Amino acid sequence: MTYLWLLLSNLCLVLVSSSVYDGYKELELATKSRSAVENFRFAELARNDSFHGLYNKRGLGASARSTEETFAKLLDTIGISYRLVNGDVGLTLGREIPYEGGLSTERYYTHSEINQYLEDLAKRFPTRVFIKAAGKSYEGRWMKTITITNGDQRTNKNVIFIDGGIHAREWIAPAAALYAISELVENFVAYHELLLDYDWVVLPVVNPDGYEYTQLSPDTRLWRKTRQPSSAECIGSDPNRNFDFHWNEGGSSSDPCSDTYGGPQALSEPEVVVLRDLLHTFSGRGKMYLTLHSYGNLILYPWGWTPDLPETVDDLHEVATAGSEAIYAATGTKYEIGSSTNVLYVAAGASDDYAFHAGFPISFTMELPAGGPNDFDPPPSAIDSIVKETWVGIVAMAHKVVEKYPLE
Ligand code: ARG
Ligand code: ZN
Repeated sequence: MTYLWLLLSNLCLVLVSSSVYDGYKELELATKSRSAVENFRFAELARNDSFHGLYNKRGLGASARSTEETFAKLLDTIGISYRLVNGDVGLTLGREIPYEGGLSTERYYTHSEINQYLEDLAKRFPTRVFIKAAGKSYEGRWMKTITITNGDQRTNKNVIFIDGGIHAREWIAPAAALYAISELVENFVAYHELLLDYDWVVLPVVNPDGYEYTQLSPDTRLWRKTRQPSSAECIGSDPNRNFDFHWNEGGSSSDPCSDTYGGPQALSEPEVVVLRDLLHTFSGRGKMYLTLHSYGNLILYPWGWTPDLPETVDDLHEVATAGSEAIYAATGTKYEIGSSTNVLYVAAGASDDYAFHAGFPISFTMELPAGGPNDFDPPPSAIDSIVKETWVGIVAMAHKVVEKYPLE
């Protein structure tokens, strides 16, 4: 008990002085002791992945170099289980500015701002917009989907599913997903036909831990993977190599330190499990799966694990063509179309192949245009034109899908 109250006093410190807590982790404790406070949160005094600060400062008797495992053992001994709920308390506190009005395309947003925007939309448009907390990332961030309807309350419509931010550094992808959301919700009359027999479900940030990590500093800006430790030395697996379909059959690395590490086994990443479960929720109703990445100006369809083409390649090609032609007509930007393996490279265990296999007849990876010094980092001034152009393509593809796959 004494320990608990000491830790609780840390929480108070956090609330008054956020900058001190940059890099600190937040844990949720559950204690079996009846007299103890159940499930309370505290900020862990530790930088990066080591928990050493807590013990010597608070006199709990562990060594200054304790690792997370040592800390877990200590908690075991005193009968407390824990889980990580926030990998960087200081960052969250520092950025949790009050949210005002709609999102603009003037800058990139943090994950908590994005979640706040979704919740705000649901409050503003309660008959048309529904939020689901689909699951949590490794570091405990809520992965929320927004379901956008026309409000007629009909259930079992077909579904278009869009996600972004599987890869942490590809910030333009969540930005494009947010623009799609804002158009469909705030300008919904313009998309009447696309909402008649179809609901849209969007998960704007599949890899929120990675996304937040890339916002920490210029040094971490190009992080791609998740943030779950993959070995003693390295962190993260490539979520787009971690799906349970031809897993590890090409284009992924078995080196935990590699950017394309497929994970110790398929579905090792909690974020991938969340997306996998969502895709199954919509199988049958799901007609188009669109995952937004950058960069390369590509609309890719299955397969990514073999050079063979699916039997329905003509349908895939037809819908993709509608997208690329609409974009070209709008802005002159050229997109190349084809199967992932043939146009890009073999990469098995990706979400697009998984969704296609799970029953979405149309499944695309859209690689948005490059920008910025590293190609993955279009400056804020480039967001507006890229996301608007992308939306033109998505709308054209959605029209094709609605026409080809009417509600049965
Ligand atoms: N740039 C993406 C990646 O490397 C492309 C994925 C394309 N799809 C596929 N199934 N290979 O993850
Ligand atoms: Zn990517």
